[in-house]
Amino acid sequence: MNNSVIVSLRDIVVEFDGQRILDGLNLDIHDKEFVTLLGSSGCGKTTTLRLIAGFLEPTSGKVLLKGEDITGVPPYKRPVNTVFQKYALFPHLNVFENVAFGLRLKKMDEETIRRKVRDMLEVVGLKGFERRSIGQMSGGQQQRVAIARSLVNEPEILLLDEPLGALDLKLRKEMQLELKRLQREMNITFIYVTHDQEEALTMSDTVVVMNGGKVQQIGTPEDIYNEPKNAFVADFIGDSNIVDGVMHRDFLVSFSGVEFPCVDRGFAREESVQVVVRPEDIEVVSPVEGQLVGVVNDVIFKGGLLYTSGAAGEEDRGDFRGVGLFWIKISRGWVAVAPVALHH
Ligand SMILES: Nc1ncnc2c1ncn2[C@@H]1O[C@H](COP(=O)(O)OP(=O)(O)OP(=O)(O)O)[C@@H](O)[C@H]1O
Ligand SMILES: [Mg+2]
Repeated sequence: MNNSVIVSLRDIVVEFDGQRILDGLNLDIHDKEFVTLLGSSGCGKTTTLRLIAGFLEPTSGKVLLKGEDITGVPPYKRPVNTVFQKYALFPHLNVFENVAFGLRLKKMDEETIRRKVRDMLEVVGLKGFERRSIGQMSGGQQQRVAIARSLVNEPEILLLDEPLGALDLKLRKEMQLELKRLQREMNITFIYVTHDQEEALTMSDTVVVMNGGKVQQIGTPEDIYNEPKNAFVADFIGDSNIVDGVMHRDFLVSFSGVEFPCVDRGFAREESVQVVVRPEDIEVVSPVEGQLVGVVNDVIFKGGLLYTSGAAGEEDRGDFRGVGLFWIKISRGWVAVAPVALHH
């Protein structure tokens, strides 16, 4: 990854039938970066990709490529390729011909096509599958063909729209690591779209959290997780307990009737805030050490982990493994705080 910006979206507004879908979107994407647009269904992720690919023009605003305005430049003149969620492979062509398709359009000689397709199939782990028909390939294999078909054109930017959505969990996890490896190996920019936050955290250099056609936060996976800028991001990324509190002064917050040191500053004195406490910062301790007391309402077995749901601040007696009373301590001595009412 380096610092030069390859794609910039400037004050992008997209309206369909008078309805605002992207609302003043600003985004810089750096060269050779793995960027993920993350957000729930309908927030405008695919629309953003289509703007970059050139399948859609903004109602207002600009798309820049390496600083140059490319608004109005048709898709085939942009150094961009797209892997669609539904693969869009040609069912009547075999694996080799699917991958060779773009090269044939460019009228490359047969020898070069053969070499490039072979190399690319090797990169995606499909060596030896050249003559197979698409219908005889599994979902994961078809996905690899789709990726090879895009990468063989040597785009500077690869757009991937939820490419793993149709795969089962195990295969999806394998493909996540594989895509990350591919991006490093090919040394190009990947702009990836997903609504799966774990996928975004696993793969990306930078995550762009979107909601309602706006960017909520841009940052590394660590930033987004550890320092959510607002309650929406905190709630969307990872598991969070979000409770109302009061910021007494810098680094001191109180909620559920107890004061806690925290990492946050810059709020007004006694400002109402929403406090974000990650599960891993909560320790279950003996009554003497406890800062808060709560009640276990339910216990759910989830394989390796035991999930409990409970509420702090109630008095009762019981056993943590069953339903009843527990004492907790906020172990790292800090919580992240986000101001209230940030759902723009
Ligand atoms: N061509 C279109 N005409 C009218 N409305 C559209 C058009 N394309 C998208 N929309 C609307 O724009 C909004 C954003 O759509 P978009 O496809 O960008 O969402 P998304 O974030 O990709 O969602 P998903 O995760 O479900 O794919 C949706 O409300 C959608 O109905
Ligand atoms: Mg979409």
